Amino acid sequence: MLDSKVSLFLVFLSAVAAAKVAAEPRYRDFRFREAPQFYNSPGCPPPLSLSSAEINCSPFALVHVAMTLDVAYLRGSMAAINSVLQHSSCPQSIHFHFLASKSIPYLNSTIASSFPSLPFLIHPFDPSLVSGLISTSIRSALDRPLNYARTYLPHLLLPCITRVVYLDSDLILVDDIAILAATPIPPPSSLAAPEYCNANFTAYFTPTFWANPSLSTAFKGRRACYFNTGVMVMDLKKWREEDYTQKIEEWMELQKRMRIYELGSLPPFLLVFAGRIAAVDHRWNQHGLGGDNFRGLCRNLHPGPASLLHWSGKGKPWARIDAGRPCPIDALWSPYDLLRPAFSIEGDS
Ligand SMILES: *[C@@H]1O[C@H](CO)[C@@H](O)[C@H](O)[C@H]1NC(C)=O
Ligand SMILES: *[C@@H]1O[C@H](CO)[C@@H](O)[C@H](O)[C@H]1NC(C)=O
Repeated sequence: MLDSKVSLFLVFLSAVAAAKVAAEPRYRDFRFREAPQFYNSPGCPPPLSLSSAEINCSPFALVHVAMTLDVAYLRGSMAAINSVLQHSSCPQSIHFHFLASKSIPYLNSTIASSFPSLPFLIHPFDPSLVSGLISTSIRSALDRPLNYARTYLPHLLLPCITRVVYLDSDLILVDDIAILAATPIPPPSSLAAPEYCNANFTAYFTPTFWANPSLSTAFKGRRACYFNTGVMVMDLKKWREEDYTQKIEEWMELQKRMRIYELGSLPPFLLVFAGRIAAVDHRWNQHGLGGDNFRGLCRNLHPGPASLLHWSGKGKPWARIDAGRPCPIDALWSPYDLLRPAFSIEGDS
């Protein structure tokens, strides 16, 4: 048995090591715990099989969910997946699709060990598809090629998949994703998302854009409103038919030649879809909870019901929690966090 002074000293040493890890997180230091197993309710289709031969194009997939996956946001993605499963009536009928460009074996095994019965596929995304199209924007985080991967989803997923819910990694659901996935998308729309018609739409594009009639006429005849591309229901069949990926790319090409907008991946989506999307109730994207890291501002929930909380903006709940300066709203994210405490009693971490 260890002398109590010695063991206290050891606890102190591991606390020092833990503090060091928190200061400079590298993915190999992360240890995620296993999520609880969630089961289908009566009335759901049979659970999806995990075998890759059967999972593709399974008629029993109730909802397809797509997210990007990278090491920097992995903790957020894990919490998001956990929240989707926890609030779903048919969690075993949700098929996840992850777009990743680096560290794929690590991401694959980390997801599989925290969610041992999760039906999922990792779709490798080649960053060179977009790297030549990205112009530098104000916030360089928005220039990560993976941010543009959602544009290519209709072509990365198998043609048998005709509808997908795209989700960012900095959000949690507190309601059944099947309700969001069932949003009607009447023609000619191919996309559904909450719209914000009070936002100042003009501000997303440069004076150069508005001053050029051959460009600004792009919005003629539609009531263009801002929407957030972090939560979207996509009709992949219509998207493929109209080849919206190419239309988005054309605007990105133009942006390389003349500066028509500032922020990275959002404006080309606005150019192609604003005023042509199916509306989704605002409860499905309570966005902006990331507030403003720079000035340390915290945000509250918008009034009204909430089915999805989105920490868009600079501040992420896991970063604020690790820095010991959480915002009150971050307490709603923590219950879904799967990261093990930096020094846990289990000893191996
Ligand atoms: C992920 O791991 C599974 C099981 O080990 C493997 O079959 C699959 O090919 C892997 N996926 C990728 C994209 O590496
Ligand atoms: C909207 O944004 C533009 C460009 O940033 C600005 O000139 C205009 O005054 C704003 N309008 C309102 C109503 O705030």
